[in-house]
Amino acid sequence: MPLRTRRSLIDLDDLAIEELDEIFSRTAAFEERRPEPRLAHTACVNIFFEPSTRTFTSFNLAQLRLGADVVNLTPTDMSYLTKGESIEDTVLTLSAMGVAVLVVRHPVEHYPEQLAKHFDGHVVNAGDGAHAHPTQGLLDLYTLLQDFGSLHGRCIAIVGDVLHSRVAHSVMAGLRRLESDVVLVGPNGFVPSEYATGGVRVERELDAVLPEVDAVMLLRIQRERLTTMPIAQDDYVARYRLDARRLSLLKSDALVLHPGPYNRGVELDDSVFRFPGWRYRQQVLHGVSVRMAVLDLLVNGT
Ligand code: NCD
Repeated sequence: MPLRTRRSLIDLDDLAIEELDEIFSRTAAFEERRPEPRLAHTACVNIFFEPSTRTFTSFNLAQLRLGADVVNLTPTDMSYLTKGESIEDTVLTLSAMGVAVLVVRHPVEHYPEQLAKHFDGHVVNAGDGAHAHPTQGLLDLYTLLQDFGSLHGRCIAIVGDVLHSRVAHSVMAGLRRLESDVVLVGPNGFVPSEYATGGVRVERELDAVLPEVDAVMLLRIQRERLTTMPIAQDDYVARYRLDARRLSLLKSDALVLHPGPYNRGVELDDSVFRFPGWRYRQQVLHGVSVRMAVLDLLVNGT
């Protein structure tokens, strides 16, 4: 197949609405019954330039469950870092070996997109800086859909450090695509007013928002991407931490999600883990099958 004709997944916008449906129905099918080895003889290489627990493990499990050949490349082992090889030449080398799928996480925004230009295979963005994290967005949407059936007209709050969160950016795009109303909640340094456009509202006070929303997505403060904290941690905790009192303001059937890793005592306290609508475990569980569905769609098509 000629260079650059294979599909990559860089952000949720790369997927047509029919493809979102297709991914979700494959996810459901894979959860019901373990599929045949649909990626047999397909070589997948995972390169994570930033730490990862959930995303790394679930991509590995997804590939293994589809019968792929899997190689995990640690960036420090790569020639391009110590032997002067360009990353472009590295991916050409991987293509020449027949590697079909590259899953990449990198602190620089648009890095996976750049790689895709040189790679004769499928690139899946596993998180690039603060830009995008499409498979996390997909698993969050899938988790919400399991409870709500449809997201049309639902109101979803995303709370915290939206500005530096690739998860928030991807999930926001997906929610708008599925016609949910989105309320971003946080201080100006985390949620600049410019986010308020078509279907997206910006609010500063969490207590006022909680009674009206169907779900709350909490975010970790992305300290590694901050030069200074725009708000003192005590203030942040006082105004935005989800705790027992704030949970009591939610509708009785509201959901609470978090992409993980969560910081206990900062964006949430332990009462959230006892809340009936807490869906963290489901998110993590669906993360494996959503990634299976994405890999299957890219490699095997519709
Ligand atoms: C997130 C990430 O790395 O973007 N985690 C994840 O992949 N589930 C969120 C975070 O680091 O806060």
